Amino acid sequence: MTKPVIDKLGRPIRDLRISLTDQCNFRCSYCMPKEVFGPEYAFLPKRELLDNKEVLLLVHCFTRLGVEKVRLTGGEPLLRRDLVDLVHAISTVKGVRDLSLTTNGSLLPRYAQDLKDAGLNRINVSLDSLDKDIFQKMAGGRGDPKSVIAGIDASLEAGLSIKTNMVVRKGVNVSEILPMVSYFRDRRITLRFIEYMDVGNTNQWKLNEVYPSNKILDIIRERYQFAPVDPNYRGEVATRYRYTDIPVEFGLINSITKPFCSDCNRARLSADGKLYSCLFASNGHDLKNLVRSRIDKAEIVNAISKIWINRHDRYSEERATGTQDSNKIEMSYIGG
Ligand code: GTP
Ligand code: 5AD
Ligand code: SF4
Ligand code: SF4
Repeated sequence: MTKPVIDKLGRPIRDLRISLTDQCNFRCSYCMPKEVFGPEYAFLPKRELLDNKEVLLLVHCFTRLGVEKVRLTGGEPLLRRDLVDLVHAISTVKGVRDLSLTTNGSLLPRYAQDLKDAGLNRINVSLDSLDKDIFQKMAGGRGDPKSVIAGIDASLEAGLSIKTNMVVRKGVNVSEILPMVSYFRDRRITLRFIEYMDVGNTNQWKLNEVYPSNKILDIIRERYQFAPVDPNYRGEVATRYRYTDIPVEFGLINSITKPFCSDCNRARLSADGKLYSCLFASNGHDLKNLVRSRIDKAEIVNAISKIWINRHDRYSEERATGTQDSNKIEMSYIGG
């Protein structure tokens, strides 16, 4: 590592989230509403996507600046055919201590074992409901909870560590909170509830559709006892709790009601090689052209370093001011 870079608000760069494709086989209403992401939607052409070698080169550069955690995401990263090769390559990079994947889980039965063998450490699977109708309401009429559960089973069998993410939308899947809690408690799997966020410009987000985390806690409290758990590290996204009767945790990701920007150490790389310093950014910094111009690795490291040093994003903390740029990038493109 050359030197740890610190941004304008004193935050180091630790976590790199890489979107490998802007495409997905689901159409979650809060992420890729089917009315917008229809058959005519222009996804990124293949030549615009970073290839595995280019991603790997950038991972090397980022680790020189302090990145230790790498998360592969999308869109749906399992739609990328050469994903297993990429996992293998990144897992051997010195400095990468934690390599994980965020996925909708539907293709895991086919790939879980190969991913584990390639060196993947962990998987976060998105699942918003165990009930097929409610699931399809959330996922735009696609998929089915059984296929996601089959993906979770395959991952556990392969020896991967798993967490589940559930986005909660008022009026749609609140009734699924307790069934999900019971199911994942019984299976000893961490479940995290995510507040519906105003990412992108297409989901027609309204504050009154957010189901606040304190209400989720009230619902869980009706049936189970639990206590808060100290954060594992500075900048942890989820606020964690442990049930008092069994050693199982659950978490809340409170981007709306309790923003966590003050410790945000996450950089995001889009599938076409732009660096975004915030999930809610409007503009990215093009790294693909730098990589393709075959300049020295040290120069790329230097360019990334300059971007991070000038970073001052804290969108979620400023949300209430209503003064922000409304032209935000889509989550399927920038990576969840
Ligand atoms: P772990 O390392 O397992 O804790 O992963 P993670 O929680 O960082 O990753 P995951 O992909 O599971 O993210 C869960 C949710 O948290 C997703 O909805 C993310 O978009 C959201 N999230 C992650 N990082 C940020 C962030 O920096 N800002 C905001 N607002 N949301 C984030
Ligand atoms: N609000 C909250 N979470 C979202 N995700 C995608 N879009 C949104 C949104 N608008 C979640 C997915 C997945 C994670 C990567 O991001 O459900 O769990
Ligand atoms: Fe696909 Fe995940 Fe977005 Fe749903 S949240 S549309 S599964 S990328
Ligand atoms: Fe980080 Fe931006 Fe999320 Fe705040 S809103 S935690 S700065 S990604």
